[in-house]
Amino acid sequence: MAANDAANGHTTTNDSVAADYNLSQPITSTSGLRAGLTSYGDAHFSLFLRKVFIKALGYSDSALSSPIIGIINTYSSFNPCHSNVPQLIESVKRGVLASGGLPVDFPTISIHESFASPTSMYLRNLMSMDTEEMIRSQPVDAVVMIGGCDKTVPAQLMGGISANKPVIPLITGPMMPGSVEGVRVGACTDCRSYWAKYRAGGIDVEDIMSVNEELAPTGGTCGVMGTASTMACITAGLGLLELRAGATAAAVSSARLRVAEQAGRNAVAMLKKEQMRPQDLLTRESFLNAIIVLQAIGGSTNAVVHLLAIINRHPKVAGTIDLKTFDEIGRKTPLLVDLKPSGDNYMTDFHNAGGMLALMHILRPLLHLEARTITGQTMGELLDNTPFKSFPYSKQIIRSLEDPLYERSSLVVLYGNICPNGAVMKASASKNRKLLHHRGSACVFENTADLARRIDDPDLEVDENSVLVLKSIGPVGNPGMPEAGLIPIPQKLGRQGVLDMLRISDGRMSGTAGGTITLHVSPESADLDSVFGVVQTGDRIICDVDNRVLSLDVDEQEIARRIAQRKRRTQGDPSSAGGEVHPEPWIERSGRRGYRGLYEREVNQSHLGCDFGFLTANGPLGKQ
Ligand code: FES
Repeated sequence: MAANDAANGHTTTNDSVAADYNLSQPITSTSGLRAGLTSYGDAHFSLFLRKVFIKALGYSDSALSSPIIGIINTYSSFNPCHSNVPQLIESVKRGVLASGGLPVDFPTISIHESFASPTSMYLRNLMSMDTEEMIRSQPVDAVVMIGGCDKTVPAQLMGGISANKPVIPLITGPMMPGSVEGVRVGACTDCRSYWAKYRAGGIDVEDIMSVNEELAPTGGTCGVMGTASTMACITAGLGLLELRAGATAAAVSSARLRVAEQAGRNAVAMLKKEQMRPQDLLTRESFLNAIIVLQAIGGSTNAVVHLLAIINRHPKVAGTIDLKTFDEIGRKTPLLVDLKPSGDNYMTDFHNAGGMLALMHILRPLLHLEARTITGQTMGELLDNTPFKSFPYSKQIIRSLEDPLYERSSLVVLYGNICPNGAVMKASASKNRKLLHHRGSACVFENTADLARRIDDPDLEVDENSVLVLKSIGPVGNPGMPEAGLIPIPQKLGRQGVLDMLRISDGRMSGTAGGTITLHVSPESADLDSVFGVVQTGDRIICDVDNRVLSLDVDEQEIARRIAQRKRRTQGDPSSAGGEVHPEPWIERSGRRGYRGLYEREVNQSHLGCDFGFLTANGPLGKQ
């Protein structure tokens, strides 16, 4: 029997549709509309009711018999990095329909860097939970996950891996660069450099106002190798994107729409292939390739935290890769891509130079070619089947292994008594390489309020050799671990022309920022056992990047005395300095309500990815 009566527009039944109403036969299908039925205690009724409601949207039984491809809609008027999502959804739908699937879009939360308070990172795990549970609970056979702005792609990869249905990431794409007096500019490396110039008195208020108009001239993600671009490239390195344009085509380009259409086709095609669920498709080698890409592009330090969280969602890979792995890979991987903040160019240049396809061909000797990709081919087969012929411009932007921008170790991991679980530095973004081997006196700010109050105080005891230390911006200390690690150069030093200083914090830094900045100190200062938590102004700090050392040059007994005193102070011991009870987030979190309480109690430290312990593959009691 025909599924549709085209003449009258009414739906008639065919055998498979009739089977849905056969009460003597159980509903056995685990795909399409019949998957994951709502619990009413009567599966046939659950399906019947589901059809009642979806038919309110005009669907026919014939259409509802197709495999369903979910499309995650992260459009938000508060998220200009996702401004093209409506067009992308239309393009994905075209690809799905052309391949015989039924596209159904649905929303999850959307997070933009500048509109989320206290930070977007605070909401990343919430978005990952939303993504995981919406994929898991709705009748979708595969899902295209549209993301772009910094935390959205990590959240979707975390949720997608945990849900473990076939998923295809679709990146919104970078914005175009703008122009200020003939000089190309783009969010957000230039946002920071122009702001620093303004703070130092180098440009006036009219200049900064006109720059403000040009830094984000189109929708799309930040146009430099910030966190969003880094995560897009890493996703390609994982084998989950089309290589030529998937990570790099501009948000406003027609190429981006074709990438979206192809994602729709690929989502349907995946259903006919074996082992395409992310926990099967992605292996340890896939993640090692992603780390190689991270080092070769001089990627954002934030991506280290995100990748660890993503890795620790994967039951077969969790715990097999840690911060040391990032450092070891870095020692063998040169920085090849000349983009801000480590280099000079923008994502559109990278795309025009050949993008990830060109880079992966150059990295081929370092890659694990047996890792599988979304196409069903291995990375080696994919590269064989998509050759790339380099051209002169390509070589300017994407350097060869023999002529790198930075010989190795763009991102390094440091250890020492301040950071026994590690701290991360983007050494390639240092503006004063002498600071990579430095010994200086600490100038300590206890938190961001203290920093704001004193950093520009003309009487601040600081000089260009001081080490600026900012505490209380770790995962618990300042929920969401703000991107305040780019501690500003004190105004009085900025005016003397000091452009860089060694800076240390337990927080993060925007991927678009640069300088000699050490981040993600673990454990964070809020932890009452943390050595970093008791660093004092005047202490000597040693940084030796070659030997991967960051340490506090203070006697162990003195450190132990300070830690004990701090603990007594939290309990109001009158014999401790100050004598009053000191508010400590580490203690206060136990009584907090709502998402903030959940976040502060469950978030793990940055060397584990700042995920909630109960969301990791090993669960709340897992060995981390
Ligand atoms: Fe969205 Fe930079 S603010 S990518």
